[in-house]
Amino acid sequence: MSFQNILVSINDGIQTITINRPDKLNALNHITIQEIGQAVAVGNKNPDVFGMILTGSGEKAFVAGADISEFASFSSIEGERLSREGGEVFTSIEQSAKPVIAAVNGFALGGGCELAMACHLRIASENARFGQPEVNLGLIPGYAGTQRLVQLIGKSKALELLMTADLIGAEEAHRLGLVNHVVPQQELIAKTTEILTKIGTKAPLAIAAIIRCVNAHFQFDENGFDTEIREFGASFNTEDFKEGTQAFLGKRKAEFKGR
Ligand code: COA
Repeated sequence: MSFQNILVSINDGIQTITINRPDKLNALNHITIQEIGQAVAVGNKNPDVFGMILTGSGEKAFVAGADISEFASFSSIEGERLSREGGEVFTSIEQSAKPVIAAVNGFALGGGCELAMACHLRIASENARFGQPEVNLGLIPGYAGTQRLVQLIGKSKALELLMTADLIGAEEAHRLGLVNHVVPQQELIAKTTEILTKIGTKAPLAIAAIIRCVNAHFQFDENGFDTEIREFGASFNTEDFKEGTQAFLGKRKAEFKGR
């Protein structure tokens, strides 16, 4: 299977998926998200694979967000579709029967933070930075960031990060429980491989059952996922969304009017 925006390799039972748009800080456009979904599905079917690593190419970014240039002129309906279709891929990662670990090698912003949160574990390099800066664009997270951030770090801190758009470093992300370990960048893949290899020595059906059970713990708030999709679509109807995205693309500061 050949891909346009991701690289896929298999070594010692581990399938590594590398998002490969370094000139755009690995921003997630439609095709990239679909390719990630396909690669995870292929990994799940491949008997030679016991687990997966998801990482970004280059030393600067894991993923700097959804591709703003792709959705800047979207209507509300297109926004809702973007959120729903991408959300399905992210949920397929969360529900993958084989463990998926994010090796976060730099910026994990917006859709990048959401992608890392959809993985089962997160290992960060010391230069990693996390955040949900969508409100800078007149938007809200669209790939379940309002749900999984609360699940991982709790309501209070999640609301702060979602409303301030503040970015946090790897150490704070570790302190908050957003990431499992922080290591120097040159050790990132080795540490991720070490943890995944340890999981790979355990009973695969038990690992798959653990994933299902832990996911089940959160199923009561399924509605929050739908609410987010609707609200994400609705943000595309606002003038603030047009202003926020145009300001980013025009490399200037946004002036929001609350309309
Ligand atoms: N969507 C589309 N393009 C993006 C992008 C995104 N989310 N994030 C970065 N890029 C592009 C930039 O437009 C730039 O492209 P260009 O060279 O063609 O102009 C390139 O990636 C490099 O980014 P740049 O902004 O020049 O790097 P920087 O080091 O000055 O800043 C960030 C890095 C991550 C702080 C900045 O790129 C940023 O704020 N990105 C958007 C983050 C965001 O809002 N994410 C949520 C989206 S919903």
